[in-house]
Amino acid sequence: MAMKIRKAILPAGGLGTRFLPATKASPKEMLPIVDKPMIQYAVEEAQACGIEEFIIITGKNKRAIEDHFDSAFKLEESLKKSGNKRLLEEISRLNNLNFAYIRQREALGLGHAIYCAKPFVKDEPFAVLLSDDIIEPGTGLLKDMISMYREFDSPILALEKVPLSEVHKYGIVDGVKEREGIYKINNLIEKPSPAGAPSDMAIIGRYILTSDIFEVLESVRPGKGREIQLTDALFGLLKKRQIYGYLFTGKRYDAGDKLGYLKATVDLALKNQQVSEQFKNYLIKVAARIKN
Ligand code: UTP
Repeated sequence: MAMKIRKAILPAGGLGTRFLPATKASPKEMLPIVDKPMIQYAVEEAQACGIEEFIIITGKNKRAIEDHFDSAFKLEESLKKSGNKRLLEEISRLNNLNFAYIRQREALGLGHAIYCAKPFVKDEPFAVLLSDDIIEPGTGLLKDMISMYREFDSPILALEKVPLSEVHKYGIVDGVKEREGIYKINNLIEKPSPAGAPSDMAIIGRYILTSDIFEVLESVRPGKGREIQLTDALFGLLKKRQIYGYLFTGKRYDAGDKLGYLKATVDLALKNQQVSEQFKNYLIKVAARIKN
């Protein structure tokens, strides 16, 4: 029987070069979207699925992440005194979660970042969330992936259809449709050329993985970009067991990229109770100005 998913790995050891100079001394994962750092969206998404243990892979200049998830007694006391219930609730919402931090000494790739978590995960299945992929809150993607894991007892990858002009940015899979939205994977290629892409289905930043991935990662050699690629390890794992893909049709933002980040900011601001009305009016004015 499939084991319960209790743990999530959040890799945050990358260099964030697409966001320089903002990421020169501060972590990309702490860039706010409206009023919350990107990584908190991912933590809340996993928390909503009952996950309470978080393993964050950090690197150079990433200390702000640890400080962010630390308890803040003084701040909570002062909010209590001033009677600011909304902010107090906002600040203490994550207090029952456990965080562990592992330092990836060198940014050797996503596969290597996941491998760093091996001693903390042991033989349990786990979720992986890349916090610069913002999934519109409330879509239930991770929940659906977890129930798929329960059904198939196999690793599950979140997939999204992308234009051929963008396949070079992703791991691309080939698969056989099992039923609506569910694919049995039969090939994976990291960052192919449009001509070499087996399909237009890209792996996005949500995974349910099983602990046998660590064994494969141990022997994966550096691939595209001279990085230890998770996609290459999944290709190795595919020789040993079945892997399934779940085609996500909701909204995702590649917020590790400037344009994606701006789109996420605009869309989530339009959904934010405190600013949505005024921000909408402002956007209408901006749109009129641009048109003229
Ligand atoms: P990205 O491909 O977005 O790389 O990594 P990056 O370094 O963060 O950003 P760019 O491309 O240089 O602008 C995808 C995810 O994998 C993590 C990143 O932190 C991000 O969450 N990662 C990547 C690691 O944890 N370690 C690595 O060595 C590489």
